[in-house]
This record gives sequence, structure tokens and C-alpha cells, in this order.
Amino acid sequence: MSLLPISIVSFLFVFFSVAPPFITAATNDDLPTAYSLLQSYNFPVGILPIGVVSYDLDKSTGKFHAYFNNSCSFALEGSYQLDYKSTISGYISENKITKLTGVKVKVLFLWLNIVEVTRKGDELGFSVGITSANFAIQEFYESPQCGCGFDCKDSRSKSEELGRNPFVSSI
Ligand SMILES: *[C@@H]1O[C@H](CO)[C@@H](O)[C@H](O)[C@H]1NC(C)=O
Repeated sequence: MSLLPISIVSFLFVFFSVAPPFITAATNDDLPTAYSLLQSYNFPVGILPIGVVSYDLDKSTGKFHAYFNNSCSFALEGSYQLDYKSTISGYISENKITKLTGVKVKVLFLWLNIVEVTRKGDELGFSVGITSANFAIQEFYESPQCGCGFDCKDSRSKSEELGRNPFVSSI
């Protein structure tokens, strides 16, 4: 009597541990989204704004392109302006994106290309070549929207965001 539930549980366990790769193989044209792919390389989805319409990835080299319908810009942390071109590219590997093109950040009055993004523990480092800035990973748990960025339904207090300028303080 009590054996029955146990065998059902172990059946379900085996089924669900075996089934997902099987299903993935069966629907081969159903690619993971660019966002879930980012997560498989240990990056949060929030480094890509909402609106990726397609992407390609060479798994052997990590070279990728991601395509938006339009360019996209928004403010980060209420201070930095970020700008994504309609095509961005780079090389992705676990915890590291290199040779990034198409993403710019405005630091003071200069537009600088973000060329590398590195994850170290709970921090993301954005490098613009001459300097870099680190941000807490939890700021990137959701994708920003073009235009309003992370503050579309702003409930955070603005004052806590003022006075922070890691790009400038790390020069
Ligand atoms: C991109 O453009 C296509 C064609 O105009 C449209 O069907 C699609 O909904 C757009 N996607 C986004 C995310 O704006």
C-alpha cells in the first residue's frame, strides 16, 4: 500500500530528470531565448534590454550577435545613459563577455564603448577600456526597457541612487 506512492514518486523523478533533454531534442527549432542563453553563461538577463528579436551564437567560439528592431537607450542608476545599437556582438563564455560592440555608456560628457562584461561572484564589472565599474548583480535581475530602463515602475527612492558614480570614482 505504501509502496505505490513511492514508486510513483520515483517514476516521476526519473521521468522529469530524463524528459527535458529529450523534449529539447524533439523540438530542435525551438531555440532558447537570448535571455535564457545569457543565464546559461551565468549572466543575469538584465544586461540585455527587452526586445531582442533574434540572435546567433557560434557555440565553439562563443561569438554572438543579438538583434533589436531599433536602437535602444535608457538611464542606468538614474545617472548613466546607456545606448544599445540595433545589432550588438561579442564573444561570450562563462562569466565573461569580450570584444563587445554596439553598447555605449555616457560617462560625464563622453560616450564610451563597453568592451567587456565580467562576472565576479555577485558583482558585474563593465569595462570601457580605460576604466571599469562594478555593479551588484541584483540590479540586473530583470531586463531594462528601452526608454525608461530599470525605473519604469519606479518605487525605489531616487536619493539612494544619487552620489554613486563608480565609473568616475575608479578612474
Ligand atoms: C520587430 O518588428 C517586427 C516587424 O515589424 C514586428 O513584427 C515585431 O513585433 C517587432 N518586435 C519587437 C520586439 O518590437
